[in-house]
Amino acid sequence: MVLISGSGSNLQKLIDASLVSNYKISAVISNRPDAFGLQRAERSNVPTRIVDHKSFESREAFDNFLANIIDEINPQLIVLAGFMRILGGDFVNRFSGKILNIHPSLLPKYPGINTHQRALDAGDTEHGVSIHFVTPDLDGGPIIAQGNVPIYKNDTAEVLAARVLEKEHLIYPKVVTWFASGRLRMHKGSAIMDNEALPPCGVIIQS
Ligand code: GRF
Repeated sequence: MVLISGSGSNLQKLIDASLVSNYKISAVISNRPDAFGLQRAERSNVPTRIVDHKSFESREAFDNFLANIIDEINPQLIVLAGFMRILGGDFVNRFSGKILNIHPSLLPKYPGINTHQRALDAGDTEHGVSIHFVTPDLDGGPIIAQGNVPIYKNDTAEVLAARVLEKEHLIYPKVVTWFASGRLRMHKGSAIMDNEALPPCGVIIQS
């Protein structure tokens, strides 16, 4: 299943790829009622739920309610795709090894937000995207895959973000397919692929 908060362009690529791959998206849950990704899911007959974080007294109450819904769906994998909520340690530990996230930077560089502007401000010549298992350490879980993009002299954060997003769309379906085929798992805090621990930067995916 996929958790979203916004446009759902990554979700769309995952939906498209599911038609020709070895996984099915069991449901899409959004914390925002207005997320366009919900329409994308409905268009593809994927069941949707809204768990609006504004309806909860606390972060824990939201996390607990969401976790109980996920238990009902009982997915093999929880894919965070443009999901803009920080999930608490209890939630993450409850689904340890079954949560993936996509982060628009070459982790460990630039955890958190505004990654594109930060890369530009730092004068970096390359940027990119990381897919990792989610652990209680924000944007700190074991990296599974990365994709690099060049930074050009006149790039704005928007232009760079669009270039990174294209790379996100390329690599997320590949990683979900690896997990669905049993090749990828998390073990003792490491990402394991084909029974081998991946290097700290994961698999570098060019195309
Ligand atoms: C993008 O900024 C992407 O880098 C990050 O979430 C945002 C929206 O993604 N993963 P999406 O279009 O909702 O998939």
